[in-house]
Order: sequence, then structure tokens, then C-alpha cells
Amino acid sequence: MAVVLVSPNCADLGVKGNIFETKQFPDGENYVRVPVPVKGERVVVLHRCWPKPDECLMQLFLLSSQLKEMGAENITAVIPYFPYARQDKRFLEGEAISSELICRMLKQLGVDQVVVFDCHFLKKAGTFQQSSLTIHNVSMAEAVLSEARKLVKNPVIMSPDEGANYMVSGSGGVSMKKTRGDFESGEHAYRKIDKLEMKADVKGRDVVLVDDMISTGSTMIKAVSTLKEAGASKIVCAATHGLFLKDSLNRLLQAGVLDVITSDSIQNQKHCVGVKKFLKPWLGE
Ligand code: R5P
Repeated sequence: MAVVLVSPNCADLGVKGNIFETKQFPDGENYVRVPVPVKGERVVVLHRCWPKPDECLMQLFLLSSQLKEMGAENITAVIPYFPYARQDKRFLEGEAISSELICRMLKQLGVDQVVVFDCHFLKKAGTFQQSSLTIHNVSMAEAVLSEARKLVKNPVIMSPDEGANYMVSGSGGVSMKKTRGDFESGEHAYRKIDKLEMKADVKGRDVVLVDDMISTGSTMIKAVSTLKEAGASKIVCAATHGLFLKDSLNRLLQAGVLDVITSDSIQNQKHCVGVKKFLKPWLGE
């Protein structure tokens, strides 16, 4: 049996374990404490790295290093939504590739393996080696899809982006083709969507859109308007991670979406699929 350490930011997930301590010093720096002995133990850490990715990652770095120092034999970090996963390649000379750096740091601090859900840069389910870190990428596609199917009749299954094709191909779904433009000017590193193309005939059909995440909602909202223009009937949006930035949940509902389904990888008001049941192989529950 593993020693399970649950972050205070995951207490709602219903996973049994010892809650580890996280606090902030008055200047904002992080404090972390391991509350149980771990010498010679296999340790599983459950920690969300959202909505404050920098702070949460720092907590995870401190925790991993401390676990190693206390003699943990093996460390598995369960990070439901993997942070810094977006920048997985260099578009412009000099750009830092954040996904690789985070993997490298976790490995160097003693993490043996990471469990994630529909990780943006992996683009398929399975076990991967990334910067010598073992990552198990678990897909929630079937789970969110099966909740969405309850709301519609004989739907066309579609992903709004080719990167999420692996989430729909097993269910006979197809992908739209998304083309992004250059970075917009301003403080945010954001490349706007230039085009979203679709080949499927959706006239009069219900549609379920499946993606790894809804972040600013731009992808889903563009997909919904493309489907509406093509005569689709009811549309349900399903995603593993619902960040819902820029009021995108309301904007999606206002755009005429019947409902939105997500998991609890991120705390939001629309989650109905729990990560807990996917963790059995690592928790031994
Ligand atoms: C893109 O590559 C992803 O699969 C999602 O489509 C994208 O990250 C969603 O972001 P947003 O909601 O900001 O369009």
C-alpha cells in the first residue's frame, strides 16, 4: 500500500489520505510540510496545479524534494490538470518550452512518475517518457462523452481541434481543423483562431463537441457558431478540464449550447465526472 498525501486543494475529490500542509509566509513565499513518515515508502501525492500554477508548482517542488529527503522510495505525483503544457514547441526563436522544463524539474526533484488527464502536449492516452519523466496520460473522453450523450439523440461526435482527435476517434467522431494566427499584441501570449474548418454534414443533427480543455472558450465558441451555421440542432460541449476563463461558460450558454460537461480536475460549477475513480490503479483503493 502506498502512503497517500492529499493536497488541501484536492480535499473535495474524496480521495482518502493524509492532507499535507501548505501555507504562505507573509511575503507570499510557500511553506510545505509532510505530516507522516515516508521512509522506504511508495508515496502518491495528489495536488492540483490550478488556479495558481506557479504557486502550486512551487508547493509540489518543495514537497517532492522533502519527500526524497525523508527517504521516500518512490514518488507518484497525480496532477489532474498539468500546468505549462501549452508551450510544447518553439514557434519563435528564443521561446522557452515550458512543458519540457516542468517535466525535467519534477524528475530532478525526485518524482518517478506523474499521472495526468488529457495532457495538452501528449495528444493521446498512454504512458510516455518526457524529459526522462514517466507520464501516464489518462483520457476522460469516454466519461465526459457518456454524460453528454444523455442530453442528446444520436449525436455527431466531433472535436473542435485536430489535437483532440484521439478523444473522439474511438467513438467514430471526426475533428474540425483549427488554424491559429500570430500572437496578438498586448500582455497575453495568445494566438487567435484564424479558421475552423469542418467536413461533416451536421444539418438537423445533434452534436457533442469534445476537447481536452475549455480555457478562454474561443475554440468551442467558434466551433458552436460553425455548427449552427451548418444547421446543427442541439449542441453539448464536453471537456476534461473546464478553466472557463473570460466568462466563457456563460458565453457558451449564450451562444446556444444546451449544456457543458467537464470533470473535477479543476473546481468549477459544471463538473459531473470525478477524477477519483480513475486513480484506483495508483492508489490501490
Ligand atoms: C487546443 O489546442 C486545445 O485542444 C483546446 O482547443 C484549446 O486549448 C482551448 O483553448 P481556448 O478555450 O482558449 O480556445
